[in-house]
Amino acid sequence: MNNNGNRKESIHMSADVILTHFNQLFCPNDLGHPLYGKEMAEAKILSDAYIAIKDGKILAVGTGQPDSGLIDDHTEVKSCEGKVATPGLIDCHTHLVYGGSREHEFAKKLAGVSYLDILAQGGGILSTVRATREASFDNLYDKSKRLLDYMLRHGVTTVEAKSGYGLDWETEKRQLDVVAALDRDHEIDLVSTFMAAHAIPTEYKGRSQEYLDLIIEQMLPKVKEDNLAEFCDIFCEKGVFTADESRYLLSKAKEMGFKLRIHADEIESIGGVDVAAELESTSAEHLMVITDEGIQKLAKAKVIGNLLPATTFSLMEDTYAPARKMLDAGMAITLTTDSNPGSCPTANLQFAMHLGCFMMRLTPVEILNAVTINAAYSVDRAKTIGSFDVGKQADITIYDAPNLDYLFYFFATNLVTDVYKNGKKVI
Ligand code: NIG
Ligand code: FE
Repeated sequence: MNNNGNRKESIHMSADVILTHFNQLFCPNDLGHPLYGKEMAEAKILSDAYIAIKDGKILAVGTGQPDSGLIDDHTEVKSCEGKVATPGLIDCHTHLVYGGSREHEFAKKLAGVSYLDILAQGGGILSTVRATREASFDNLYDKSKRLLDYMLRHGVTTVEAKSGYGLDWETEKRQLDVVAALDRDHEIDLVSTFMAAHAIPTEYKGRSQEYLDLIIEQMLPKVKEDNLAEFCDIFCEKGVFTADESRYLLSKAKEMGFKLRIHADEIESIGGVDVAAELESTSAEHLMVITDEGIQKLAKAKVIGNLLPATTFSLMEDTYAPARKMLDAGMAITLTTDSNPGSCPTANLQFAMHLGCFMMRLTPVEILNAVTINAAYSVDRAKTIGSFDVGKQADITIYDAPNLDYLFYFFATNLVTDVYKNGKKVI
């Protein structure tokens, strides 16, 4: 377009594509920081709206008939009447890459055996570790690609993906390599998190400190050197890693330049929240059983709460994270799937959004902010995604719905009709 000699085009910045006449367009505010507390209740909602795209980026957003300067002979104009759109959804906490599956544990779960008991019996995460160690790169790649395909169809355009089913360097590296390869090959952008501290490997049973030293001395330096992950995460939970162990690993990871996350207060409250606040972790994950005091600490330390209600649902618990209390305390929150083979086998972020509405009493605006702009901050990509600000990537999710409330009112149905990634229609 720019090298065909038509200078006028670039001077007037006509669009490559204009999507017009959306019934409603959800435009989150990017205030330069995650939306905290009451800020999450605010957004610009445009009616009869258009989005102009140029070179894969947002060129303009407005209402009514697009400015004639935005359109020339090459511009594709497409009416989206009867539809609504949001920035591409961001799933900011997944365990995307793993071998096998765990439906063989489903009967136990239905019979009431707890998640931590299954893990203590050598099942759960450890069963997936065995399957992942046996899986080839190609097998892991194909399985994860299929999950990403599902996610894209549900409107997701960016995904955070953790390792943590290897618990040895060879397999952890294979998982990280799969993430890097899929980031290159798949329409969805991936953000990589290193989570070798997901469980204590059987061969280190009773020697968790030695395992943590192995991670710190042998694995983290290699992850850093080859730039295989941006974040480091740990499962701080009764029977897994203690708060002191989490502090030990994460403070070393922070010194090495990793950004931090921590699975905290998922099943038992054992101090992970304090570690998140002390180390100014980017996010704390789950927070299903967080105390009021813990909420105050995270609010003060500006740690984002990544909430995973589909996990609460799948664990058949009633301990949904107290999202409303978190907003009252001024916290920033996101909603995310936790997509994994055990505690949350789903690829549907919309399901987590619906639970956010029905079980956590979040409003549609709060939920849409949670999965767009706040999730962008949670994966440290807010400069390029998460809102429709001019110059950001044209990642757009379009739904067959007359208005934004309808996305929540009409639940458990995928209303996504089109997805644009970097300005290109991919669904
Ligand atoms: O976030 N809690 C730890 N990790 C995952 C579950 C992983 C699994 O069960 O395979 C979670 O719930
Ligand atoms: Fe998780």
